[in-house]
Amino acid sequence: MASPPLRRPRRPRILHLVPQLRRATDRIKATGERLALVPTMGALHDGHLSLVRLARRRADRVVVSIFVNPTQFAPNEDFASYPRTWDRDIALLTRAGVDMVWAPNAATMYPDGFATRLVPGGPATAGLEDAFRPHFFGGVATVVAKLLLQCTPDVAIFGEKDYQQLCVVTQLAKDLDQPVKIVGAPTQREPDGLAMSSRNAYLSVEERAVAPVLYRVLRNCAEAMSGGAAIAPVLTRGRRAISGAGFALDYLEARHAVTLARVRTLRDGPIRLLVAARIGRTRLIDNLAV
Ligand code: PAJ
Repeated sequence: MASPPLRRPRRPRILHLVPQLRRATDRIKATGERLALVPTMGALHDGHLSLVRLARRRADRVVVSIFVNPTQFAPNEDFASYPRTWDRDIALLTRAGVDMVWAPNAATMYPDGFATRLVPGGPATAGLEDAFRPHFFGGVATVVAKLLLQCTPDVAIFGEKDYQQLCVVTQLAKDLDQPVKIVGAPTQREPDGLAMSSRNAYLSVEERAVAPVLYRVLRNCAEAMSGGAAIAPVLTRGRRAISGAGFALDYLEARHAVTLARVRTLRDGPIRLLVAARIGRTRLIDNLAV
């Protein structure tokens, strides 16, 4: 018996201009369908695709934005060299069943004369990423607010991988009365525990071998704390293990999982452990619930 013809997944509609996007989202809204947005900077990996899968479960239509946002990079950071893999990204999103790709260029997002920048507070000033990348959350908040206003999604999916960013975006949507549900998605990891990241591509073979130490330390710390060990000495040991493995440690901290406020004991929780460390020229971040 002849097998039925395989249906090739349809390529998502690729939109570059705001009026085009508006017409497409208006049409979706008019039919009463729910729309999910997955914001990305491209260079897609399985972490991003897990967000797309969650979006498909949460909504009828999915738009993925691809925009390497210049305003969240400092002049000394990797904006110019950030991996750009457009053809591969579109092939992955086609297979993932995405409906639309919102891909504005920098002049569409930030035309000449653009003069507005959000200044997020609360979780954006917790003294974690913001202490090492002071410009970062202003740029993220500005572009995410624009993406939410442009796409008007019912739900927007962000990874727990960038935990402080998830907290900042949740606060932003609430403060700006955006009628959107912000949903956090669990971190996807390589088999050895390293959190998937577009920046892992920068790691040399030797650095890649050391990189899973971050997750191992997070797990050991979480286990010790939930077993009743005092927070401060556990963190001290964890910091030593990370530096001893060859990282330059930016921070290893235990914070309140919602407010990111400092915690002294397990009773101040729920607690989230957050880490950032540099190996060679690559900066890695990760986090874990206690
Ligand atoms: P980007 O680094 O491309 O990440 C896009 C989304 O994928 C973010 O919500 C991020 O948390 C999530 N993500 C990355 N790695 C993941 C992993 N291993 N598991 C699960 N989710 C993961 O984050 C940004 O882009 C930008 O700051 C953006 C929000 C698009 C604003 O410019």
